[in-house]
Amino acid sequence: MAAYLHGFIPEEQQRLIDQAGVLESLIYPRIDFTGCKKLLEIGSGVGAQTATLLRLFPELEITCVDYSQSQLDRAKENLAFASDRVRFVCQDAKKLSLDEKFDSVFICWALEHIPDAHEVLEGIKAYLLPNSKLWFTEVFNSSFYFNPALPGLTKYYDAYNEFQRSLGGNPDIGANLGNLLLRAGYKQIELYHGGFHLDQRNAEDLRNICQYWKGLMKSATAGMREAKLVSSADVLAMERDLDAIFKDENAVFFYHFVQVSATV
Ligand SMILES: C[S@@+](CC[C@H](N)C(=O)[O-])C[C@H]1O[C@@H](n2cnc3c(N)ncnc32)[C@H](O)[C@@H]1O
Repeated sequence: MAAYLHGFIPEEQQRLIDQAGVLESLIYPRIDFTGCKKLLEIGSGVGAQTATLLRLFPELEITCVDYSQSQLDRAKENLAFASDRVRFVCQDAKKLSLDEKFDSVFICWALEHIPDAHEVLEGIKAYLLPNSKLWFTEVFNSSFYFNPALPGLTKYYDAYNEFQRSLGGNPDIGANLGNLLLRAGYKQIELYHGGFHLDQRNAEDLRNICQYWKGLMKSATAGMREAKLVSSADVLAMERDLDAIFKDENAVFFYHFVQVSATV
């Protein structure tokens, strides 16, 4: 299994569950699987998004694919409330071998980690019924802007993105989703932006998102330390800067992810 930016320790598994809660109101307003019955979720992790999908679309049965058995084991626990509606498949998304076809696909924060992600988009087509609905949500890390300009956060964030690229991932894959889907032969491709543009008008949200961001940044610390991309002083500086932002009267925190809907 290829090296993975965030790792698989229990704290990271819990972070994914917490993250799904923090971001749910931003991710789900447009996503619509009404009328769909069988959904394929690629890179389902610990089932954090799966739980939301099961709740929002009561007719869906979901097949969760992840290449990490420990993520799927945690997903089984997390989704025990709907065990009759979920199935777990431990496979590399680039080498799928499934025994059924689906009328819908969901991918969230997973293509960013997969080298040559276009191969996933090409591979899943073999398992999709005509008119299947697709909804993908992915990062666009170059969209991050914050004020005041703080060097500790800038340095760590650059190293974080560099680390992801060194693992074969793409921290800006959201911006490329349109081209990737077009080239893989999908139709009716629509792009949307979501995310936050926070300042002191929304002081509580600003504080919460700075806290969330700290957890996201720290989820890669172990790997980044091992790769000698950051020191412990760099980690502390990043944390200090995120604490400083929300206290600043001119604080701005802006980040956009990209969503795409399409069909086959
Ligand atoms: C950041 S997590 C996102 C999990 C989930 N979609 C969510 O939003 O909570 C990315 C997941 O993709 C999985 N993953 C990465 N590369 C993969 C691959 N080539 N095939 C299958 N799963 C992969 C990882 O194991 C991890 O669980």
